[in-house]
Amino acid sequence: MFEKGYYGPFGGAYIPEVLVSTFEELEKAFEEAEEDPGFWEEYIRVLSNYSCRPTPLTFAENLTRHFGGAKIYIKREDLNHTGAHKANNVLGQGLLVRRMGKDRVIAETGAGQHGVATATMAARFGYRCTIYMGEKDVLRQRPNVFWMERLGAEVVPVNTGSRTLKDAINEAFRDWTARMEDTHYVLGTACGPHPYPAMVTYFQSVVGKEAREQIFALEGRCPSRVYACVGGGSNALGIFSGFLDDPVELVGVEAGGKGLGTGRHASRLASGDGFLGVAQGYKTYFLQDPDGQMRETHSVAAGLDYIGVSPILAHLREEGRVRFEAATDEKVLEAFSLVMKKEGLIPALESAHAYAQAFKEAPSLGRDDIIVINQSGRGDKDIFTIADAFGDPGWKEYIQQKAEAYRA
Ligand SMILES: Cc1ncc(COP(=O)(O)O)c(C=O)c1O
Repeated sequence: MFEKGYYGPFGGAYIPEVLVSTFEELEKAFEEAEEDPGFWEEYIRVLSNYSCRPTPLTFAENLTRHFGGAKIYIKREDLNHTGAHKANNVLGQGLLVRRMGKDRVIAETGAGQHGVATATMAARFGYRCTIYMGEKDVLRQRPNVFWMERLGAEVVPVNTGSRTLKDAINEAFRDWTARMEDTHYVLGTACGPHPYPAMVTYFQSVVGKEAREQIFALEGRCPSRVYACVGGGSNALGIFSGFLDDPVELVGVEAGGKGLGTGRHASRLASGDGFLGVAQGYKTYFLQDPDGQMRETHSVAAGLDYIGVSPILAHLREEGRVRFEAATDEKVLEAFSLVMKKEGLIPALESAHAYAQAFKEAPSLGRDDIIVINQSGRGDKDIFTIADAFGDPGWKEYIQQKAEAYRA
């Protein structure tokens, strides 16, 4: 048996004393909700009438033909309201906030998807909302900043450290320490101190439950492999949790950035550069130097650009239950283009990591193999990054014209 909140040696709640009672309150609210069948029913009701659930499992006929190996299915989390799986988690936590009688939410965000989802949830439930975001991500994900502000949230750019997700998380914890009575911190992934990894996985498990039922309805059996990208790990744990007890190979794909040998990536488990440590309130593999200082990370996908990884995934890797791979920016952009051209879908750059690895492996699988790829989000938010990466001349001209119009 594991100690509560631990997964093997990973997890825990390494929090300042001032936050202990707040975490106890949250844990109690979550445990009571988990035991109350009415809570899950209400959660599913909100997801289905507000956020387009169940999301479909789409047969990728053209990609299947193109690779000539396994049959490829795509779980369409991009169809959630606000464009990513992040909506599942925030709507669940939004219902918990109501149970706890609080009226203010804060969140951190990297790609901006979690921030937009939280700001949307806050508008829907009537909560005040502040979002912390690294300055670098504010620049990369300006459209999402725009939406968060229009939704009524205050967006606070964080200019400490590497000015990305880990710094935004630190700032959010600082805020929470000062405002515990009325504020809930809507953590966006399956990381952080207990009970967050368990709670976020619980809310995201809806993805795996649906995917399993859908593949049985369509094919009458389990897939051979399931692929998901891994930032903190919430979309991966969401879909994997539906297949943990089945003979299905689970593949988590991290950000290989410029390449694993370059030091410019965000691969904590597939690279061998991750070390066991404690930071941001929990124990897991972090990208850190021998002195324990956090390293700079890099990914073309802001949502995968994080130094830690879910303690639950670290444990599942150690148990041999999940295989970890990394996809480079270059391969991700190639996969992204192929998905657009063959299937008319626009995956998020994060999700394109799962595609890149699946495409590497699909041709060597047999025609009776089935694979499922979790498309965790849609790529609209990435339009600036993608246009830059492809040096799109029409887009450049459009931006120049816009800039001139604003200058006039
Ligand atoms: C579309 C999308 N996919 C994946 C991720 C990575 O997060 P996680 O590993 O928690 O699913 C993000 C994070 O912002 C995201 O926006």
